[in-house]
Amino acid sequence: MLNRLEDASLHGMSTVLVRVDFNVPLSEGRLADATRVVDARPTIEFLLARRCAVVLLSHLGRPGGQFVDALSFKNLLPAIAEALEQDIIWLDRYWEQGEPPHALEQLGRGQLALAENLRFAPGEEHNDPDFARALSVGADLYVNDAFSVSHRAHASTSSLAHWLPSCAGLALEAELESLSRFLVPPRRPLLGIVGGAKISTKINLLYRLVELCDRLFIGGAMANVFLRAHGIEIGDSLCEDSALNTAIEIEKCAIDNECALFLPVDVVLEGGDQRLLAPKHAARGQNDGGLKPGDKILDIGEQTRAFLMKCIDDSAGLIMNGPLGLFERKGFEHGTRTVLEHVSARVATKALIAVGGGGDTIAAINQ
Ligand code: 3PG
Repeated sequence: MLNRLEDASLHGMSTVLVRVDFNVPLSEGRLADATRVVDARPTIEFLLARRCAVVLLSHLGRPGGQFVDALSFKNLLPAIAEALEQDIIWLDRYWEQGEPPHALEQLGRGQLALAENLRFAPGEEHNDPDFARALSVGADLYVNDAFSVSHRAHASTSSLAHWLPSCAGLALEAELESLSRFLVPPRRPLLGIVGGAKISTKINLLYRLVELCDRLFIGGAMANVFLRAHGIEIGDSLCEDSALNTAIEIEKCAIDNECALFLPVDVVLEGGDQRLLAPKHAARGQNDGGLKPGDKILDIGEQTRAFLMKCIDDSAGLIMNGPLGLFERKGFEHGTRTVLEHVSARVATKALIAVGGGGDTIAAINQ
């Protein structure tokens, strides 16, 4: 049962910790897409309007428990303040300050503050109760508004709730409501489209999607693992070889769950050539199939795009996570763009209900 922010008694709650997901896309060190920041506004405004001091907690990237200047929220403070249309007090690593007088206790009612990247502290990813305790000192309430990181059992998403009264924020609640409307019961035929660079970061998602979906298409660099596992030549494309067995296991699970799994049949290479994919050592025709050493796959090809559009036309529901190519680079955005444009046209006619998630997916949608 979800504790709702609107039901929480804020009487006597002067300082509220709000876990947001400001794991935003960066471009040359700058905020490239403010969607996640803007999404946090309703909860922040709700609390500020009730004269709470609001402390925003988030991670950014994967600094591995140490300070990395490029991932400091200090660099993003002006851009975040602009997206929230609020003045923000910089709290740095307030959890290192030890005993009171404490930074949180010095905040005035109605003030908004941002703390440093939580993942600079080793305790965050270790779900360390002592780190969670240090985060909580001086606060009265913990609000989780970070749906997109709530699958991680980290100190700020898990342990912290043991130290403070807690509830879900407005954005998290809205995400859960819209997902439930879509998934309980699932809209069928249900299509999953998953891309992105690494299979290892999406293993649980892939297992869940093969249980849930009627069809699942895998693109992006993570498809390379599946292609290689099938003996398809992928040249020098990015490939997580340590995940080859995982790919095979996921395929078995798809068969067990009667989920049809699809991979790209043609690709765009660095340099712009389109190629059909072919098994290693297959005889090559003039323009068709087979990659050579040195070739790098950076997008799905035209035939794969056409196939995916047909799959989308045949579906009533769609779950999408991750881009299908290196969409940030000109010339390699066509796969992701074509699919998103087609999805949005189908959604506009109400033929399809679609949900998309993940920082890169949102950046691609906005792009
Ligand atoms: C995300 O962007 O998907 C979330 O913020 C989780 O980030 P993580 O995969 O680095 O834990």
